Amino acid sequence: MKSPTPLHALVTGATGGIGRGICFALIEQARKDDMRIHISAAASQPGDRLDRLLDELRATGATASGVAGDITDPAECLALVVQAQAQGGDLTALVCNAGASGPGRLADLPVAQWDRTFNLNTRSAWLLAQAAREQLARTRGSITAVASMSGLTPHPGYGAYSAAKAALIMLCRQLAQEWASDGIRVNTVCPGMIRTPLTEAVYQDEATLHQRQALVPLGRIGRAEDVGAAVAYLASAAASYVTGQNLVVDGGISDHMLTLIPGRPGTPPVAQD
Ligand SMILES: NC(=O)c1ccc[n+]([C@@H]2O[C@H](COP(=O)([O-])OP(=O)(O)OC[C@H]3O[C@@H](n4cnc5c(N)ncnc54)[C@H](OP(=O)(O)O)[C@@H]3O)[C@@H](O)[C@H]2O)c1
Repeated sequence: MKSPTPLHALVTGATGGIGRGICFALIEQARKDDMRIHISAAASQPGDRLDRLLDELRATGATASGVAGDITDPAECLALVVQAQAQGGDLTALVCNAGASGPGRLADLPVAQWDRTFNLNTRSAWLLAQAAREQLARTRGSITAVASMSGLTPHPGYGAYSAAKAALIMLCRQLAQEWASDGIRVNTVCPGMIRTPLTEAVYQDEATLHQRQALVPLGRIGRAEDVGAAVAYLASAAASYVTGQNLVVDGGISDHMLTLIPGRPGTPPVAQD
């Protein structure tokens, strides 16, 4: 028999590649845990994409509602959380997934682009977390933010993105310390190279696909489901003693650099898919 108190997850960037994967992974995790779940799927604006996602989520047997707003606007961050609560009750999980890179050289990056990258990838997570804090304290819930391997390793040409994702990881570690006494857990996930609509154009080129795969020790490009499973774990009761952690989901690529140093014996071969 299902628990009478449903889980309620607000997922930003839900209509994007990884966001969709997270929504379905949360539903699958709730099914395994024999819990009911309501998904508040957040998009930057209402429309057909959000409506289609809601239909797909409801087809699994979960309940779902849509919320929309631009998370670079502080008032809209607050409004998203208020709308989500009105539709599905107190949140048990906040997943700050929406984000985007903004390529550029630091030598001449416009200040407006720096600010937008930080407001989207970093400040929004703090504002959403602030807005959700009282609800999450009541439910002893969790926050999981989607950072990037670019937040762990410098990514030349990526403008403010690496700095913004690195700041997001530290923001979440700090929140984890400040809010542990409220029973709120805060963690991050760092995806590596994930094939989503955002990155699909790159993988349409077979040569680039193979070159990228060859760099990944596990021998394949990541999928949205890989990131979704990590987020679902961190949001689940199985992670009830895990906070302030960063889970890297990258097939091993971030740690692979030293393996590439030529002229050393015993360099292991890269796995093939
Ligand atoms: N794909 C990768 O290889 C990769 C690797 C590392 C990290 N990541 C991170 O993973 C997350 C998801 O990426 P993805 O690959 O799934 O990209 P995606 O398909 O482009 O999805 C990103 C989502 O962010 C939302 N978003 C963008 N700007 C927004 C705004 N101002 N207000 C509200 N929502 C906004 C978009 O919503 P709308 O569609 O409604 O506009 C979109 O659904 C991002 O944080 C990204 O930095 C991705």
